[in-house]
Amino acid sequence: MASVDVGVALLGYGTVGASVNRLLVESADEIERATGHRLRIVRALVRDADKERSFAAADGVLTTDFAAVRDDPSIRVVAEVMGGLDPAGGYVRELLRAGKSVVTANKQLVAREGADLFAIASEAGVQLRFEASVCAAIPVVKVLRESLVVTNVHRVLGIVNGTTNFILSRMEQGGSYAEALAEAQQLGYAEADPTDDVNGADAAAKMAILATVAFGSRVALSDVDMRGITEIEPAHVVAAADLGMVVRLVGIASLLDGKVDVRVQPAFVERSHPLAAVDGAFNAVMLQGDAIREITLEGPGAGGIETASAVVADLVSVVGTAGTGFLQNDACWRELDKLPDGEWRSPFYVHLDVVDRPGVLAHAASRFAAHEVSIAQLVQRVEDGQAALELVLHTAPLGAVKAALVEIAALPEVLGPPFVAPVLSERPL
Ligand code: NAP
Ligand code: HSE
Repeated sequence: MASVDVGVALLGYGTVGASVNRLLVESADEIERATGHRLRIVRALVRDADKERSFAAADGVLTTDFAAVRDDPSIRVVAEVMGGLDPAGGYVRELLRAGKSVVTANKQLVAREGADLFAIASEAGVQLRFEASVCAAIPVVKVLRESLVVTNVHRVLGIVNGTTNFILSRMEQGGSYAEALAEAQQLGYAEADPTDDVNGADAAAKMAILATVAFGSRVALSDVDMRGITEIEPAHVVAAADLGMVVRLVGIASLLDGKVDVRVQPAFVERSHPLAAVDGAFNAVMLQGDAIREITLEGPGAGGIETASAVVADLVSVVGTAGTGFLQNDACWRELDKLPDGEWRSPFYVHLDVVDRPGVLAHAASRFAAHEVSIAQLVQRVEDGQAALELVLHTAPLGAVKAALVEIAALPEVLGPPFVAPVLSERPL
């Protein structure tokens, strides 16, 4: 079979972009064997064409002129690996309208502007693919959209941010939050502004995308209830260990009675749960559905070459399916309502700092009982006239737990705001 040369461009030549070029150069023969095409980087858009790169681009490839990408007829497909909403969003729109397919690693762009971008792509008859925007090397979008197309997936559980998982894993070994974050930045896992990683915004965008694809109904970023790891202290990690658990930033997307709930928050995960073993910058996604029961995908969730492998896979898919009409761009086919926040149910961990005097425990327990929330486990530590209560609650509606905690926080013996996190357990709680 005669080989076809396909012109490819990159928007961005940083951690991910340079790795995409490396893979295309070093794996050109494998790609040609599999697809009959040679994918060649023709242009790569950067801010500074003179900067030193981890993998050098060929002479004349780096450019600061977007029009050189948009107006080059030899470029059929473009990988957007520059990040941010502006100018990336405008560039992607222009490229799609110019008849070029786009693959992107930009979860914020897909989560916030996906509806518009998919519509433009379909109108222009080109593809917009986004595998690398969620969980880097793990092919979860492909599995959900293709392998599980007839499976009614009703729950997605995920560790979807490598930076925070790396930080929490380091804290478990006694490392400090600040040192672990600096190391994650140095290793290229963190976003350009790591605020998005630690406050949960990166994971929320990924969960919005995963929920949209899994449930076929648009989940806006603003629909995702989000808490990051900035509130996590070494004491939480130690308390979790004492209960046989680890702290992880977990995304949970549920389809309950035809309504959708998506949240990202630190969770206490029992050591026997598959997500507890996910260490360092690894990610994992558990898909639960009618026919499949449960499928867990685990792998590198951040890093240049890891993310580049998903970008290259999308480039190969675009080239391999061009003109076949394979898959609609937009995964949405219905509009589901959002589950009211208080109706979401889970077992919970609660930490309370209280004065150590008779009756305190009974007062707190009575507030839970008044809201029909049952206590599964209780540990009390006493130090200097102060007590820390660590409770595991049986599965209960979030609304009832929050209502009880408002009353408990108002008790005179309670010394600070309660800390609450869902518990992930393999056994019924
Ligand atoms: P990065 O290292 O900061 O690279 C960004 C690249 O985009 C740089 O080459 C930069 O040019 C270029 N760029 C940025 N703004 C530009 C502008 N206005 N005009 C022209 N060029 C511009 O970022 P990255 O880590 O590769 O991440 C890229 C994307 O991949 C982001 O959306 C990120 O969320 C996503 N992602 C990253 C990872 C990861 O582990 N790093 C994993 C999954 C997804 P200069 O080099 O000249 O400054
Ligand atoms: N900053 C992201 C993370 C990169 O740490 O998971 C992958 O999207």
